[in-house]
Amino acid sequence: MKHKIAVIKGDGIGPEVIGEAIKLLNVISKKTTIQFDFRYLDMGGVSIDKFGVPVTAETIEECKKSDAVLFGAIGDPKYDNNPNVKIRPEQGLLKLRKELGLYANIRPVKAYEELIDKSPLKFEIIEGVDMIIYRELIAGIYFGNKGTSEDGSRAWDTCEYEETEIYRILKLAFDSSMSRSKKLTVVDKANVMETSRLWRKIAQEMHQHYPEIDLDFLFVDNAAMQIILNPKQFDVIVTSNMFGDIISDEASVIAGSLGLLPSASIGVSTSLFEPIHGSFHQAKGLAIANPIGTILSAAMMLGYLGYPEIEQTINEAVEESFEKGVVGKDLNPQKYATTAAIGSFISNYVADKVENSMISLWGEI
Ligand code: IPM
Ligand code: MN
Repeated sequence: MKHKIAVIKGDGIGPEVIGEAIKLLNVISKKTTIQFDFRYLDMGGVSIDKFGVPVTAETIEECKKSDAVLFGAIGDPKYDNNPNVKIRPEQGLLKLRKELGLYANIRPVKAYEELIDKSPLKFEIIEGVDMIIYRELIAGIYFGNKGTSEDGSRAWDTCEYEETEIYRILKLAFDSSMSRSKKLTVVDKANVMETSRLWRKIAQEMHQHYPEIDLDFLFVDNAAMQIILNPKQFDVIVTSNMFGDIISDEASVIAGSLGLLPSASIGVSTSLFEPIHGSFHQAKGLAIANPIGTILSAAMMLGYLGYPEIEQTINEAVEESFEKGVVGKDLNPQKYATTAAIGSFISNYVADKVENSMISLWGEI
């Protein structure tokens, strides 16, 4: 089976981490009947340099025509440090998310046994943590009315939510919760924000259709504390765009590093798979970028394309790399493996496993 994959390397360490995911996908296509047709597209700072815009209409069209999008990272400090620039790399990603209708960003977070001593959090606090964050991705304060007054003395960003935008992400979270431990936490700021109160109202109404679910509401400030104080209390968390952005970076401390967390963005059109970390320009070209977040995103993509066994094998390979101490500088500054060494370890492990199992027959059965 041949899958059309749009690949966006982006900026900073994006090309390096994507390189390792492609290495892995190439190994898989060599050993199995699963084939990929990669289309490389520009977005972010590189697209601004080439075309003057952070994403072109062609890139968006190509993504729409693909079976999935694999994405690295975008952003550049030269824009971050200049509040006056009007065209910014991040606008490319936001536009693509919107155009593809990617309303749900799914971010699994777990404490890996082999890495527990790498987290600054105590063993007994994080041991066994396994949660999933559902972040609303194409509405809220990221997409509401925004602007700056003519004299530059006033600026605004508006948080807006339509009922349907809240319902569809909550629905995914409720359904996910049903297949897990049936504990769902809505994170909001309902003591202050109108939009949060609307989230609560809809969640309470929907709860009637999911009576087995233990539904809980937490204010985001409290949630930010609880995530590191007692993360084991969480199973599925669902929240708005910006709260989800913030608490998922925070939750990555449980896993040990931001570089480890993958995500899947799903919605009405082609799905997109991306690590949650950013472009980390300081690390660019130094071979110290952690490719695991991207590799696990590629694994999620394979699960979505219909190959859950391969996804599982990649997850196993990642755990094996931790077990063997093949980890990046972010996890072990004294003795670390390079980006390519980590990627090769994973690819070799998967190649061996696939060769010795029925998985290689996939597509023929
Ligand atoms: C993320 C990133 C993006 C976001 C940026 C790059 C626009 O931080 O995917 O979490 O804020 O959504
Ligand atoms: Mn983020």
